[in-house]
Amino acid sequence: MTDALLLALDQGTTSTRTIAFDAALVPRATAQEELPQHFPAPGWVEHEPEDIWRGVVATLRGALERAGGDASRVAGIGITNQRETTLLWDRATGRCLHRAIVWQDRRTAEHCARLRAEGLEALITERTGLLADPYFSATKLAWLLDRVPGAREAAERGELAFGTVDCFVLWRLTGGRVHATDATNAARTMLFDIRRGDWDEDLLRLLRIPRAVLPSVHDCASDFGLTEAAILGAPVPVRGMAGDQQAATLGQACFSPGMVKSTYGTGCFALLNTGAEPVASRSRLLTTIAYQLGGRRTYALEGAIFVAGAAVQWLRDGLGIIGRASEAGELAAQADPAQRVIMVPAFTGLGAPHWDAEARAAIFGMTRGTGRAELCRAALESVAFQTRDLVEAMRADWPGAAGETVLRVDGGMTASDWTMQALADVLGAAVDRPQVQETTALGAAYLAGLQAGLLPEPGVAGASHWRLERRFLPGAGSAEAELRYGHWRNAVRRTLGPMD
Ligand code: G3P
Repeated sequence: MTDALLLALDQGTTSTRTIAFDAALVPRATAQEELPQHFPAPGWVEHEPEDIWRGVVATLRGALERAGGDASRVAGIGITNQRETTLLWDRATGRCLHRAIVWQDRRTAEHCARLRAEGLEALITERTGLLADPYFSATKLAWLLDRVPGAREAAERGELAFGTVDCFVLWRLTGGRVHATDATNAARTMLFDIRRGDWDEDLLRLLRIPRAVLPSVHDCASDFGLTEAAILGAPVPVRGMAGDQQAATLGQACFSPGMVKSTYGTGCFALLNTGAEPVASRSRLLTTIAYQLGGRRTYALEGAIFVAGAAVQWLRDGLGIIGRASEAGELAAQADPAQRVIMVPAFTGLGAPHWDAEARAAIFGMTRGTGRAELCRAALESVAFQTRDLVEAMRADWPGAAGETVLRVDGGMTASDWTMQALADVLGAAVDRPQVQETTALGAAYLAGLQAGLLPEPGVAGASHWRLERRFLPGAGSAEAELRYGHWRNAVRRTLGPMD
């Protein structure tokens, strides 16, 4: 067995993390740094690019050191990242012209409304699989080109580079020698034709994006370039890259059509592998690239929910009714079963399949007997109900999903057995929790190991890196869960749209 290490760098929305895996994909050491958030105006969310960069260097060094390794043992770095977040920098100096505009940022809502009013959403969906929504990079980049003085002219002269976080990090790691991204990240820009696998000239023209700012697009496992020697003591190859939800899909080994993973962080992202052909959604799910290997694309249907763990954070930080997130499950287990309290956690609108930016959160069914336990139960169940909405949409969109669904789960909330049982009851499907919960990093490490020739292609029989920790099956609570799901649907109907 080789003593090679694979460094998975996960640049997420709230933190930057590197996990050093060994060649058998066992995690050996972790280093993590928080990432400061900036909210310069209502609905705006920004990150300081130099904070991102500092976290990248510090955690790469930290994880390698803690693993007791040096650069000579690193077979490859795999980069995974918060998707859609948009940066624009000067090719000569490497300095960004503005803070990164984060995926959650809604400043381009009006631009998107205009695109919809002009009847352009159908074209956007046909080419990119996405919807005309500020979530994606394209209108954020257009905003930067229009609002930063001199940016458009400099971009047209070829002096500027655009990138999502993966691309910016790669540029910095390689000392400005490589301007590249991978197909999964490109697929989230709203500028990329996911069928042809190239930037779309019509969308570039419509959104007034000069082609000169765009990176080249590669397979997820690829030789992306060598890092500057000063970063880890010697040059190290970057060999993997994928957006975080796609990396989690790989980490969960969802390699066959019909396999679904769902990641529960602040929000929740569920991806269904649909195989070699993109499937158009009739239920307002996104069609996206799950991964591209050996020039072949595998597609996914994706449902994005904006509030999952954030509902528990609100119980803790907003209401102050729990001290630790883990208390929510313990209290929910003690809730009065006769109470039908339903929470619609539309704190920042509702994502898939509703895509209602105007909706706001509401709690229904409270009585004088309602207390902390019932509110905890309502918050945790809302995550299960939203997941069921996504799974129902997937079943409607893709006949292959109509059979028996098994949901592979990961992320902080999945530590709660109560929540996972509630999820199985609400879905009427098996919920599988794997041994390695760091599936995003695992996916990035897998890509680097694949490119380094240490790990097998996806789907090689008996070679999967995925191991079950516990399966939750629908149980005694299923009938009641069905009833409560009906109440959830009514509650959502009553929450949609603006309040005035
Ligand atoms: O699409 C946004 C997603 O990639 C963000 O993920 O885990 O950084 O919140 P996370």
